[in-house]
Amino acid sequence: MTAFKQRIFSGVQPSGNLTLGNYLGAIKNWVGLQETFETIFCVVDLHAITTWQDPETLRNATREVAAGMIASGIDPKKSIIFNQSQVSAHAELAWIFNCVARMGWLNRMTQFKEKAGKNRERASVGLYVYPDLMAADILAYKATHVPVGADQKQHLELTRDIAQKFNSDYGVEFFPEVEPLIFGEATRVMSLRDGNAKMSKSDPSENSRINLTDTRDLIEKKVRKARTDSEALPGSVEDLNDRPEAKNLMNIFAALSDKKVDEICASYEGKGFAEFKSDLADLSVEILGPITEEMTRLMSEKSYLDDILREGSHKADELATPILTAVHEIVGFLRP
Ligand code: AMP
Ligand code: TRP
Repeated sequence: MTAFKQRIFSGVQPSGNLTLGNYLGAIKNWVGLQETFETIFCVVDLHAITTWQDPETLRNATREVAAGMIASGIDPKKSIIFNQSQVSAHAELAWIFNCVARMGWLNRMTQFKEKAGKNRERASVGLYVYPDLMAADILAYKATHVPVGADQKQHLELTRDIAQKFNSDYGVEFFPEVEPLIFGEATRVMSLRDGNAKMSKSDPSENSRINLTDTRDLIEKKVRKARTDSEALPGSVEDLNDRPEAKNLMNIFAALSDKKVDEICASYEGKGFAEFKSDLADLSVEILGPITEEMTRLMSEKSYLDDILREGSHKADELATPILTAVHEIVGFLRP
């Protein structure tokens, strides 16, 4: 068995404001991984345009996602931070993976079904092959571990299938088996208005999510307005199972305070939501406030952000180019 170096790759789309879901499900977890892995974090602009993006908004959101990563503790000295479109290996390898992946595999992807909705005929072809590009992102670096929120699990299984089929079709042991890293107390943060829907950048209701750009006042207001039920808080996690809104707020509290949900349940047993929400609002502001402020500061230093992204792209390109060259060789592309 070939030994693969332990390398992390993960990405966020610049398709709107970063949310509390992005932070707790993904970015917060990345910070600690910088110490033990080689880490590559990508603003996936090629993925973003699978649904319409206004060009000026896209440019701004790309910087904003980079600023959000840095403000959350991703250190450009420890990690590579760059935007996907600047490293051509992503799109090139994605094409090859379009020829490896099967229609049947993509037809099973639940995110496509959700995003395309009833209007499947009008969805972009890019949205359909989105998971092939995601596999290319990861495998262009032979990354071994991918930290994401729970919603990306199926895409990572597809990445493994693509790597395996490529290896077996060509009789090589070239691509590694990718390990998903889905951890923390909030791997699936739900909407503040509906405990059965994922908190998402694209939800039309602003009150459904907390954005990393929200002011302290706004964060507090959204937490206080979050939907709940009328019962008192339970003493154990099992009792939260049919109370999705309560469960979501407890998970958020646990993740923000680096505690287990059990501990949060124990300390609020029998209490009402008013006290709990007031504490959650304070905690959210305490943790997110400094991140928002640092993001705002970084956004006023565009050339600093651009320098980081440019340098990151060069470093990423250096890692991906030899891997892509080897893929060409394996596939049989003549280099005349
Ligand atoms: P996206 O915003 O779709 O590009 O997602 C970027 C990262 O954030 C991925 O790792 C997602 O799994 C994660 N993520 C997005 N929304 C949520 C959520 N509501 N709960 C947990 N993780 C999330
Ligand atoms: N599809 C991911 C999401 O929307 C973003 C993403 C793109 C990604 N490429 C990736 C995540 C590679 C991890 C690894 O959440």
